Formats: sequence, C-alpha cells, structure tokens
Amino acid sequence: MADGSTVIVRPARAVNGVVRIPGDKSVSHRYAMLAAIAEGTSRFRNFSAARDCASTLDCVAKLGCEWKRLDDGTIEVHGVGPRLKAPSEVLDCGNSGSTMRMLSGILAGQSFTSELCGDESLSRRPMARIMKPLSEMGAKISASDGGRPPLKIQGGALKAIHYKPEVASAQVKSCILFAGLFADGETVVEEPIRTRDHGEIALRAFGADVERAGNVSRIAGGQRLRAIEAHVPGDLSSAAFFLCAAALFPGSQITLPGILMNPTRARLLDILLQMGLKVSVAHLDEHQGELVGTIEARGVAWTGGVIAGADTAALIDEIPVLAAIAPYSEGGLEVRDAKELRVKESDRIAAVATNLRKMGAEIEERPDGMRIPGGGQHLHGAELDSFGDHRIAMAFAVAALRAEGETVILGADAAGVSYPAFFHDLENIAVL
Ligand code: S3P
Repeated sequence: MADGSTVIVRPARAVNGVVRIPGDKSVSHRYAMLAAIAEGTSRFRNFSAARDCASTLDCVAKLGCEWKRLDDGTIEVHGVGPRLKAPSEVLDCGNSGSTMRMLSGILAGQSFTSELCGDESLSRRPMARIMKPLSEMGAKISASDGGRPPLKIQGGALKAIHYKPEVASAQVKSCILFAGLFADGETVVEEPIRTRDHGEIALRAFGADVERAGNVSRIAGGQRLRAIEAHVPGDLSSAAFFLCAAALFPGSQITLPGILMNPTRARLLDILLQMGLKVSVAHLDEHQGELVGTIEARGVAWTGGVIAGADTAALIDEIPVLAAIAPYSEGGLEVRDAKELRVKESDRIAAVATNLRKMGAEIEERPDGMRIPGGGQHLHGAELDSFGDHRIAMAFAVAALRAEGETVILGADAAGVSYPAFFHDLENIAVL
C-alpha cells in the first residue's frame, strides 16, 4: 500500500512467481551517452526505467542530441557525432552519480564549457576522483569545496594518460575511457581491483577498439562510433532484491527472465549460492557483448557469510539488501573493505545500521563495514527511512517481509531512482 512516498510492507509467508526486471541501469546510461556521440540513430529496447537514466537522456538532449520514446517503449537516440552542442543551461544530473561522472568524460573533450549539478544527495558526493584524471588530460574543471558538485568543465584538446585510480570505480574508469575517445594517443586505465566492464563492452558494440586485459583497459583516441540497435538485459542489481526475498523463505521459488549475466556483476550469484540460495541460470545468451540469462532461485536455508576485498567491490550495490536480510541468517554477515558505501546515494552503512536497529536487530557498525549477528534474530516492523536512497528503500521492503508486524517506509519513492515499479512487483510475488 502506498501514498507515493510512504509504503507499508506487511509480513509474507513466502514469495513466488516471475518478475520481469527493467533494463540494466549501468548499461542504459552508457548506451545513451555513446549513442549521443555516435553517428546514426540508435534504438534500445528494454531501456532502464530508472529516474537516473532519464537524467542522462535529459542531459544529452540539452547537448543537442534528440531522442524519443516509441510506442513500444523503445528509446530512439539520434546521434550527433563526437561534437555535441554547447548547452544553454546547466545539466541537471538529478540523483545520478553515473550521469555526472561518466558524462564529464565526454564533456572534457568538447570545445565548450558546461556546468553539471545534482540534487542534495549528489551534491555531497566526491568528484575529485574524476576531476584529477580529466585535469591531467587537459580539461579545466572546478567544483565546490572538497571536490563536490556543481562542476564546471571547460573542455578542449585532450592528451592521453596512463591512469591508476585510487578507488575501484567503474564510473571513473568509464569516464576516463570516454574522454580517451577525444585524446591524442592511447589512454590506459589500470584499476586497483577489476570493476564492471560495461563501458568497454558498450564502446566495442558502438564500433570502438578497446582492449582489456585483467585490470587494465586501453583505448586509442580519435575513434568514431556507429549507432547500434540493442536490447538492454534486466538489471541484476534490481534482481538482487527478489533473490534476497526468496532467500528469506525456504520453499520460495522465483524466476527472473532475461537478466544481465556479465561476469563482473554476477559474483552476486556465487555469493548467494554460498550463502544458501539455490540458483540456476538457463537460456544463457549474448547480446551486444553482454551475457543474458534466466535466473531460477529457490529459498532453502540462509547461512550468511563474509563479504570482503574484491567481492565488496563486485557487490557494492547489493550489500544493502544482503545486510538487511542478514539478521535472519544462521551465521550472520560480515562486510569489510566497504568504505565506499559511505559515499553512495546515502551513507549506506549508517542507513542500514539505523534501520536494522529500529527493527530490533543487533548490528556492529564499523568505519568500513559492519558485522550483523545471525542466529535467526527476531525483527519487528518499524517506521523506517529510505534516507532518500533507492537501494535502502528497497532493501528494507525485503527485510520487512519477514518481520513481525507492519513496516512503514518513509521516502519510499526514492526507489524510482533505479526501479519505479519495485513495490508493485514485490507485492505481486509476496504470498501473505
Ligand atoms: C556503477 C558503478 C558503481 C555502482 C553504481 C553504478 C556503474 O559505482 O555503485 O551504482 O554503472 O559504473 P562506482 O563505480 O562509483 O563504484
């Protein structure tokens, strides 16, 4: 039940059914940005319904790239080639860090000055991680104190760099590779930990030559992109909420067709298997370089476990929901090496700790992680806050399914940032 921004979640006995998950957010952002600087008309079926991706489409429109939604929902983008039009207004990235960070790479190579802003949450997020490499490439970038938005980017001729980012961030890597298209030579990004490679795969789909070996990705400047037609696979990070819901109830059965199976994202499935969920993937296929498959999941006994090191980077978006259901597990959950969670759409460590405590759970909050005891902790319904963060709103709707009594989620419309139909889809599979 909902009044838009407040949702009430009632306890369920199980979850069962098929959920059609909207297109992947990471892939959709990259497709929209690359389609804008490609030659020709691109068409994307199952493009993400996320508000974040609408922010990207709004920004590319202000940069002279026309796009429209066809009757069947296909997004058609009329590429303008590498030279975009100077925007007459500030580019509003809304809540979307991906829009701001990745688009900055393209703007750094343009011969005009642009300004990017965001909402309250985005205005608190660190941008030095992209300002530093883009400045080394020759762009002039200024930001508010502490390297926070709004950003002002004076683009121009760029020089290629060999960059070793301090943080493992696919947004930063894509930003640099996109800027690399406009640089005079070969740009190399050497990551501390391998991150999702949708940027590399999308660039290749649009006809660019991009090399990737282990943690090192390379792109030569001056390559031109050609429009593509693509079907965006379902978002695995959105699928995670339903997989975790299935994990809560032994005997539950969930089917998720057409989900993104990119190996740099699919570590989630290994971890869920290790923690007790029965998962299988059928109808594996490949589309525009991305793997796609149908996930079948069955709840058995939820054991919990440890997430650390490279796994933390690979599961960064799924940790909130894994943590939210951890109290119900046998062994609990420990999350380490996760200080990046503090600078996401909210401070996700603090948000998880606050909400779990309100539900009566024990949790030890650490500067770079958390430890949540298992043993089948008994949680009760409570009034929770989304902290304006889509993944917190959805994570606690899942946790609420097994709590005693109703849970009220304030600011639940935040879910629309990545998954507008989430509460509707969750209600459809919940067996009360
Ligand atoms: C994303 C990468 C991750 C993730 C975000 C989407 C992407 O951020 O949290 O939701 O599409 O590249 P970082 O790259 O900053 O870790």
